[in-house]
Amino acid sequence: MSDIIIPDFAVVPRHVGVIMDGNGRWAKKRGLERTKGHIEGAKKFREIGEFAADCGVKCVTFYAFSTENWSRPKAEVDAIMALFADYLTEAIDRVEEDLKKGIRIRFFGDKDGVDPRLHALMDEVEDLTRGNDRIMLNLAVNYGGRQEITRAARELAREFAEGKISEDAINEQAISDRLYSAGLPDPDLIIRPSGEQRLSNFLIWQAAYSEFWYSDVLWPDFSKEDFLEALKAYEKRSRRFGNV
Ligand code: IPE
Ligand code: IPE
Ligand code: MG
Repeated sequence: MSDIIIPDFAVVPRHVGVIMDGNGRWAKKRGLERTKGHIEGAKKFREIGEFAADCGVKCVTFYAFSTENWSRPKAEVDAIMALFADYLTEAIDRVEEDLKKGIRIRFFGDKDGVDPRLHALMDEVEDLTRGNDRIMLNLAVNYGGRQEITRAARELAREFAEGKISEDAINEQAISDRLYSAGLPDPDLIIRPSGEQRLSNFLIWQAAYSEFWYSDVLWPDFSKEDFLEALKAYEKRSRRFGNV
């Protein structure tokens, strides 16, 4: 369990989205290479994911690398991909620990677009943790909301062409069912640190009625206390979903 006191929340989001932003600025502020910021940021994924489980959250989706992030300098992209590979290798080594903690890890995004070795590691981590159900941690890697919706549209077109579905069957649920998040509740709360207030192509379909929480803290500095602040703010929100 956690070392800090978790309040007895009246309501806890079922699904939280986290845009892990600000690694580069964190490093720059310290006169370090941007890569060092990514190394520090990567450590937070586990800490905050496990803490979310302690808070009673069932699912967290972390935005780690977007389809647009490939446009960064090659050296930075290579360093981030190498970090993912290290992280996944380590995750496989300590899978026993994850099994005990009930952590299931999944990936959102186009796996075919990443290095085949990384793709294989992603599949392995997903397979090894598949049976866990205390918390689901989704890591969005090579993920873009528009790519995700386009992929769903293409899948529907294929099923229609093959005569598996009728035109009438193409409704909102049919699209949701073909997204990486199929079967999960939409994110109730989306957290973005680093001072930016935008989605940057994150869960754009699923975020239709999400609550947003922003903070100026840079992701490598993001703490459990910050996560609690976001949950406290969420508890006070009045969600109306278009109703009165
Ligand atoms: C987020 O931090 C990590 C990735 C997008 C891969 P950034 O690298 O975007 O950090 P800033 O926004 O430049 O500070
Ligand atoms: C969003 O951050 C993507 C991730 C955190 C993975 P960016 O740093 O890429 O977003 P922009 O460019 O500031 O919108
Ligand atoms: Mg950024």
